[in-house]
Order: sequence, then C-alpha cells, then structure tokens
Amino acid sequence: MTSRPSRSDWGLSLGLAALACGVLGLVAPLGLRAQQAAPAPAAGAPAVTFTKDIAPILQRSCQNCHRPGQVAPMSLISYEDVRPWARAIRQRTSIRDKAGAMPPWYIEKNIGIQQYKHDPSLSDEEVATIARWVEAGAPRGNPADMPAPLKWADDTAWQIGEPDLIVDSPEIVVKANAADWWGELAPVKIPLMEDRYIAAIEIKEVNDVPNDEKGRETVGGRYVFHHLIWSAAVIDDSGDVPESQGLGLWPVHEVGRNADILDPDAGREIKAGSSIVFESTHLHSNGRDTKAKLRFGFKLHPKGYEPKYRSTLRALGNGLDIDIKPNEANQQLHAYLVLDRPMKVVTFEPHLHAPGARMCLEYIWGINIQTVSCAGYDHNWVRQYEFQDDYAPLLPKGTILHIIGYMDNTEKNKNIPDPRNWQGSGNRSIANMFIDLGQSVSLTEEQFQQEMARRRENRKMKKNDFFIDCPLCGVPPPPKTTNTEVRQPQ
Ligand code: HEC
Repeated sequence: MTSRPSRSDWGLSLGLAALACGVLGLVAPLGLRAQQAAPAPAAGAPAVTFTKDIAPILQRSCQNCHRPGQVAPMSLISYEDVRPWARAIRQRTSIRDKAGAMPPWYIEKNIGIQQYKHDPSLSDEEVATIARWVEAGAPRGNPADMPAPLKWADDTAWQIGEPDLIVDSPEIVVKANAADWWGELAPVKIPLMEDRYIAAIEIKEVNDVPNDEKGRETVGGRYVFHHLIWSAAVIDDSGDVPESQGLGLWPVHEVGRNADILDPDAGREIKAGSSIVFESTHLHSNGRDTKAKLRFGFKLHPKGYEPKYRSTLRALGNGLDIDIKPNEANQQLHAYLVLDRPMKVVTFEPHLHAPGARMCLEYIWGINIQTVSCAGYDHNWVRQYEFQDDYAPLLPKGTILHIIGYMDNTEKNKNIPDPRNWQGSGNRSIANMFIDLGQSVSLTEEQFQQEMARRRENRKMKKNDFFIDCPLCGVPPPPKTTNTEVRQPQ
C-alpha cells in the first residue's frame, strides 16, 4: 500500500471526491505543459479553433456539469477556463468508454444497439477535432465565431418538470468524520387521498452545505446520502410492509444518478395511504457536520389513467457468491435469466463495484446470440442507459438474458485500494455486486405482437432487415384466429 496511501480510505463507496483529487494531481501538470511548446499545425489541415469548433462541443456535452456550482471540479465555458485543461480534455475524451472517460458515458460504439435517449457522447469526428485542436496549440480563433452562451435553469429546477407531489425524508445529521452508516429511516406518509399512477420520479438531496464552500467542488463534498433503496407501500398496523406489496421495486436513488421517467405505458401505482419506506439508506460523511434530507418529486398521470403494461424488475445478477482473484485483469462473471413472458427492455444499468470495468448484456434466442449493449464501467459513476423507444429490445418468452461482467483487480484500476486482496460479495465498494438494475416491462403475447407491428412500421422494416432489438420482427406475425377460421376436424 505504500505507493498509494491516499486510496486506502476510500474503501467504503463514493470514491468520486477522492478520485477527483487524485486525478487533479495527475492531470493538472499535463494541462500546464500544454501551454508550453506545441507542435505546428499540420500543413493543409483546416485550422481548428476554440471559438468555432470546440466551444459548441463543450456546450452540448460538458457544460451541464462543468460550470459554476455544478458537480465537476472546473468550469469549461470561456477560453480562459478551458485552455489550461486542453491536454486533459484530449486525454479524457480519447479514452471513450474506459474508466475516467469524459463525458461519463461508457456505451461502446462498435457493438450492440446505439440508439439511446439523452446520449451526450462525442462522435469519432468530435474526438479527432479536439485532438487536432490540442496538437495545434489550442488556439482561441476568432472571437466572433463564439456561440452564444447557454442559459441554464437554476440549480433547484427539476429535470422532470414541476412535480405534482413532493415528499421529504426525515432530516438527518452526518457528523464531520462519521463512519459510513447504512440502515433504515422512519417511514414518511405520502399525502395521497386516492390511488394514483406515477409518470416520473426525481430525488434530490437538500442540505445545509453552502454552495460556495471550499471543498464543495466535488460530489463527495456536496452530498451525504450516497444511495437509498426505497419503496412506496401501505404499512400495516405493526409498522411492517405486507409481503404482497414487495420491497425494493422502485428505482434506487444514487448520488449523481439521473431522474426516472417511467415508460408512459407502464406507470407505477402508489396506493392512497402509502408511505415512503427507507429500506436501506447509505450515508457517507463529506468532512463537515451536515444536516440533510432527500426530497422526492413525483409527476402523476392524470386521474383515470390505466397502465397498458406491467413494469418489472429483471432480477438479473448475482450479489452472493462472487469470487474475484487478486492481481488479475479481465476476470469474467456471468448471470442468466430465462424470460417467462415477453419483455421490453427499457433501460440497461450495469451495477458493479470497485473492480468493475465493463458489462455486456446479450440474449440467446434459439441458436441466436446477439449483443444488446456493452458498456465500460467506472465505479465513480453510476449510469443508466435508456433505449430510444423504437430500439428498446422486444424479446419473446423463452429468451435467455445473459450479463457478462469484466473485472479488473489490478494496480491499473484506480478504484482498487489494494489489488493484492481477494474480493467476495457484499455491500461495500471493496466487496462486490454484479447486477443489471435496468427496468423492463412485461408484455402479454398480444401486446408483444402489437409492439412488433409498431416497430416494423416506425422503422420501415424491409424484407431482409434484421433488428438486433427485435429478433422476431422479421418473422411474419401468426394469422389471427377467429371462430370462422377455426375448423373442427370432420
Ligand atoms: C455528468 C457530469 C459531467 C459531464 C457531462 C462531463 N464531466 Fe468532466 N468531470 C466531471 C466530474 C464530476 C469530474 C471529476 C471526477 C472525475 O474525474 O471523474 C470531471 C473531470 C473532468 C476532467 C479531469 C479534471 C481533472 O481534475 O483532471 C476533465 C479534463 C473533464 N472532466 C473534461 C470533460 C469534458 C471535455 C466533457 C465533455 C466532453 C466533460 N468533462 C463532461 C463531470 C462531468
């Protein structure tokens, strides 16, 4: 451990703050070096400038985080902001889907479905443009080319729009140097007088850390709720949740995770008289005494809404008998799930811990194996990937879903405190989980046929097309059976 002493204390989850500091140390000198000798621009290549070529890329893919008061450690708005980071930007954008990549979006572009909602990733051309700009000495260019600055909604704005219903968790205090804690909080009643369906959920931490406080530049300094497993349920007289209502079926809250806009056809019901049940709250000190609570924002469907589909948990993964050897890269884990009814896969959400480097999701249907998605993984970030509506995998009953996890327990993985250790399963970041937390909806056979018909039409499927996301779309639909068509044997 002597070579990496500072890492030993990020064992318990939330390495983000620590990584930011660690990486700052590494990258800042490179940024400075960029200001010294830069090679002359290649003859004949059109000049790439900050104002014309780079600023628009930063506006689209970076500034939502890299601006004052947001999660990223530095602002990337003006030329003066960006110039010292030129080399670091080239390095972080060039590593694409590997840990440390910027923007933090890890879908591999050479395999599987490529159509996702809210995809901020850069095209190959944009990555090359950044590299050419840095090699040319990161010139400013003509100030007149600079795009108008973006206007941002204020910090307290909700991504899901103004919620119809807001519920706060109990307030807690996390002391400056408290150890990590996880457990239950007292349930909170949801003020609903009738059963209603939920269209979207967003959870924010509200705390008393001043916005401009030093050390708040990173997520680890800003928040104390690391994550929360919760549900909405009617509690019985003894204070318990009856088993029939199931627990843990609502999307997990994790620091930095995006809001959940549920499939419009698969709204989730909250019964009148329900409470928010805090099944497992994980708190992590940010180095100062902090008073905090979580604020739940719910968007409701109109009264009378009925969901067409039932949303389900995929239960695809393993958190029990994981075995990760010391000092070895590229170790694989596997988990399978056989679908007992047709399914639409709405999101892919790799959930690994510190050694996680990559996860792939594939399906096996008959003799066919298709990769749905492969994503790199960096335990400092949690991401869910939402398929675009016409690309969400539509899989028949009997399909086998298979996830493959790739683990890197070596010095090369900066999230590993000490790669000499064997690792098993467990809640801590230094122990392991291996789960696809993605959301899905269950379909009846009839709904499955309807969804496939819609997809053929929307995507203008031609005779020899094959869609990875819909293995049976190319198969003619079964003829409709009506009473007149069913012939009795004579
Ligand atoms: C979702 C928020 C988010 C987006 C989008 C994002 N970043 Fe970051 N960025 C961060 C955070 C947080 C850190 C510090 C932690 C880390 O390195 O992972 C960071 C770190 C960096 C660093 C390293 C800084 C250092 O300390 O060395 C660079 C360079 C960078 N980002 C560039 C970019 C660029 C360029 C883009 C767009 C192409 C981008 N980022 C998009 C949040 C973001």
